[in-house]
Amino acid sequence: MANRGGFSNRLGFIAAAAGSAVGLGNIWRFPFEVGDGGGAAFVVMYLLFCFVLCFPVMITEIAIGRKTDKNPAGAFKALGYKNWSFVGKIGIFCGVLILSFYNVVAGWSFGYFVEISMGHFDIGSRFTEFTEDVLTVGLYAVVFMAATAFIVSKGVAGGIEKAAKFLMPTLVIIIIGLVIYSLTLEHSMEGIKFYLVPDFSKITPKVIYKALGQAFFSLSLGMGALITYGSYVDSKENIVTSAALITLADVGIAFIAGLMMFPLVAFMNGGDMTNVSGGPGLIFMTLPGVFQTLGPVLGVVIGSLFFLLISFAALTSTVSLLEVPVAYMVDEHKIKRNRAVWIIAAFIFIIGLPSLVGNGYSAFFTNFITYFGAESSTNFMDFVQHIANDSFLPLGGCLIVFFGAYVWKKENLNEEIAKGYPGYKGSFVEMYINFAISYLCPVVLGVLFLLTVLNQFFSLDVMDMLF
Ligand code: TRP
Repeated sequence: MANRGGFSNRLGFIAAAAGSAVGLGNIWRFPFEVGDGGGAAFVVMYLLFCFVLCFPVMITEIAIGRKTDKNPAGAFKALGYKNWSFVGKIGIFCGVLILSFYNVVAGWSFGYFVEISMGHFDIGSRFTEFTEDVLTVGLYAVVFMAATAFIVSKGVAGGIEKAAKFLMPTLVIIIIGLVIYSLTLEHSMEGIKFYLVPDFSKITPKVIYKALGQAFFSLSLGMGALITYGSYVDSKENIVTSAALITLADVGIAFIAGLMMFPLVAFMNGGDMTNVSGGPGLIFMTLPGVFQTLGPVLGVVIGSLFFLLISFAALTSTVSLLEVPVAYMVDEHKIKRNRAVWIIAAFIFIIGLPSLVGNGYSAFFTNFITYFGAESSTNFMDFVQHIANDSFLPLGGCLIVFFGAYVWKKENLNEEIAKGYPGYKGSFVEMYINFAISYLCPVVLGVLFLLTVLNQFFSLDVMDMLF
């Protein structure tokens, strides 16, 4: 096992895991999901899910990984439950799907960094043309995947941890600077109000499903990324406080990203927040225009910093997504790390091609599927997100906690947690974790998974039909 590598200390693990959590999910997806979900009501649901449902899932994932020192599929097997390794395998597959489209969006961000650095503020109005120009965005996607593969090939401490320790603080500094700036803009308070003052009549079943998917996606849960990172953690570390720090970092950055975004959106719309549903194009279409108003020098500085920030955030996440299948190949199939990294990265890039061309270039992938009862079609990238992020992650979370509570058994799980947390046994935290993984999480996640699938793919809303 010695050559499997590991984080050099607790800070290294937290930086890497927070780096995995903080990504496009926080800065690209969160703001437009909030916009689509009616503002602050969505934020409330999201926070609730993160702390109440996802936190116990995170602890279980890390504990399984640390106990076994294995990738998700190998971990279930190592605990003696070979039949359960399918959960790990589905997770790995799900991670591959996520990285395939994620890398495309990361490539857009990096492309925007380049464009804005050259002063091309009109890129915002050319977003559609930009995504249709498959050679250019394809090149950016190649660059991004190569950077990801390079970092992962350097190993856990020498690559993943080192990159996170540099990228994460830089990111925090840039984002705080941008928040301060955006709060000084005209109409900023209208944006803040939309973001922070909830209108609970806006909580529909759909908002609930979307908030759940977003919580899992944002925390990198449900597919074994944290089983994998957990496998590089030392037994003397306290899993509960680590998980709390990771959750706080992730939720904190998402929250701050909202504080930055909505004043900018309000500024662009002249204070009108009645229709903020930019969808995936929100940051790409709205922001360049805002940066332009700052003038040629400041606009280039702030604008390029912003897209650099997103690219950095995305990079520590793509690294974690790539690490999962790589760990699987290294552990289970004894392939050398370096080799596994480049082969898998190339493979995932190819799987991502339909997402790349499905944003306008290829009519087939742009209008990929029309769900039962739906009015319009869904492109390939959104289709993958509906399957992987919104459906499979909560299902994976449900199966993982169920496994922890009833198959591996909570006594064993608790013992693993207690290794780095002397007062854990008999504490309130233990009581909550036991309750959550035995009853709350499996039931709520299982039910919400079914409802999400019925709603997303069949336009059926059981909750609406009942109430
Ligand atoms: N959490 C990351 C984000 O918010 C994305 C991510 C990285 C992820 N690793 C993951 C999502 C594993 C799900 C599972 O951008």
